[in-house]
Amino acid sequence: MYKRNFTFLLSLFLLNIIFHVNVITAKQDYVPTNFDLNHFPKNILVGSNTGGRSHLKPMLDIAAILSERGHNVILLTRGNYTPSSEYPTIKQISLGPTINIKDIKDLKQLVNKKFDFTALSKSLEFNVKLYESTFEKFKDAAIDNNIDLFICYAIINDACLDVAHTLKKPAVGLLSFLNLMDSKPYKSDPIYNCNISLENESFMERFKCTVIQPLRMLSIMYPILNQLNDLRNQLGAEPVFVSSKRLAQSSLIFIDTFFGFEVK
Ligand SMILES: *[C@@H]1O[C@H](CO)[C@@H](O)[C@H](O)[C@H]1NC(C)=O
Ligand SMILES: *[C@@H]1O[C@H](CO)[C@@H](O)[C@H](O)[C@H]1NC(C)=O
Repeated sequence: MYKRNFTFLLSLFLLNIIFHVNVITAKQDYVPTNFDLNHFPKNILVGSNTGGRSHLKPMLDIAAILSERGHNVILLTRGNYTPSSEYPTIKQISLGPTINIKDIKDLKQLVNKKFDFTALSKSLEFNVKLYESTFEKFKDAAIDNNIDLFICYAIINDACLDVAHTLKKPAVGLLSFLNLMDSKPYKSDPIYNCNISLENESFMERFKCTVIQPLRMLSIMYPILNQLNDLRNQLGAEPVFVSSKRLAQSSLIFIDTFFGFEVK
């Protein structure tokens, strides 16, 4: 009994370490805005492995402003996003054909099904399959275009984050899963089949939503993340458990939450 309690507490502790990232809010000392600023145009790579408007639009809106200020922006994503009409100043390098999940055996069963953490595992497996070729494409594009800054969608886009880390370039992340960055006992996420607010939920429901479901997700993700680390080792990228977590420790992350999310 004692041992079981210990194992349980240990898993809670580990879970907290893995998922909880301290979101640093302006703790640095004040730096004057004109201090040692370098106004030369930068080469900026905006990357999303999967593409899709909900991933691309927030990043491209930022990229368009950077481009207006004289920086060179290149988009790396699948398909031919032809940003010409909406984002005429941003050129694209294609990562290959658009992913249509209806055409992919393991993913087509997810269409019309509620997206939860069990579905996430299929997407992660798919990410592993594409990882090596995507990593090479991001790396080649970054070297060929002398990239100074990466803006990466930070979920299921490990190649973008890993190439930035490998080339020791700064990266800015964008994601829409707040729980990964800032887990709290009073809120959850539909990905766990739970309500966003646990305010009026029973103890059992809170326990399920903040402990059991994240642990189940972790146990599903663990072997897939290990496979990804084997690939990282082969490609000379530093292994990490969750690459968006590494990003959060050293960089700027924008989180697109339930409020103000554009659905198109
Ligand atoms: C979530 O909240 C709704 C109403 O606010 C409630 O009916 C439901 O049982 C709650 N739990 C889940 C898992 O949806
Ligand atoms: C919880 O219940 C209170 C009182 O009924 C209500 O005012 C509040 O909006 C509820 N919270 C949620 C998230 O449903």
